[in-house]
Amino acid sequence: DLAQDLAGRHVVVSAGGTREPLDPVRFLGNRSSGKQGYALARSAAARGARVTLVAANAALPDPAGVDVVPVGTAVQLREAVLKAAADADAVVMAAAVADFRPETYAAGKIKKKDGQEPAPITLVRNPDILAEIAGERARPGQVIVGFAAETDDVLANGRAKLERKGCDLLVVNEVGERKTFGSEENEAVVLGADGSETPVPYGPKEALADTVWDLVAARLS
Ligand code: C5P
Repeated sequence: DLAQDLAGRHVVVSAGGTREPLDPVRFLGNRSSGKQGYALARSAAARGARVTLVAANAALPDPAGVDVVPVGTAVQLREAVLKAAADADAVVMAAAVADFRPETYAAGKIKKKDGQEPAPITLVRNPDILAEIAGERARPGQVIVGFAAETDDVLANGRAKLERKGCDLLVVNEVGERKTFGSEENEAVVLGADGSETPVPYGPKEALADTVWDLVAARLS
């Protein structure tokens, strides 16, 4: 039945936001709460999937029956996702992964010194995990889903990003008040590599999660 349409499947979901440390007490981070990724994990588990949830700094309860792998940085998230993706039928990258990390990590807390200008922070690029897994395709037939938060030209930017990353589906959010970061609700358009556009009206993150798995299940069967 439809309720168990992911039975026998292994799916990987990344959630939350990476934190890139500067010193033992400071990091560069982002506003992702992890709520959308956790909703995706709960929804997939309810539909019968074995779920690996790679959770970056999300202060949320572990969903029942889900294998949760906690990570901190983008490099750690990459390692956990690549490992879990090796035998996965689908990978959904809902995590907000830092594009850059500080080049150096200070083993001791960075101090301010009287009369001295602060030292600049040099950033280096993080690996693009989505582009990497979509490019390599750990398994033939694996369905890869990305997320994108855009502030303007949402659909055009989303379509370009889908092609650049090489994923099968891209969930495009418009960043705004009451939507996306930290909120319980979301509104999105799911773009398909086949040219499809599936609008998901403003509503709970669970509803968007269900639509994503509908589209994934259709591509798996
Ligand atoms: O390029 P941008 O960060 O907008 O792309 C967002 C999508 O790419 C999300 O699915 C995110 O999880 C993924 N991503 C990634 N590795 C990065 C940056 C983003 O997998 N370094």
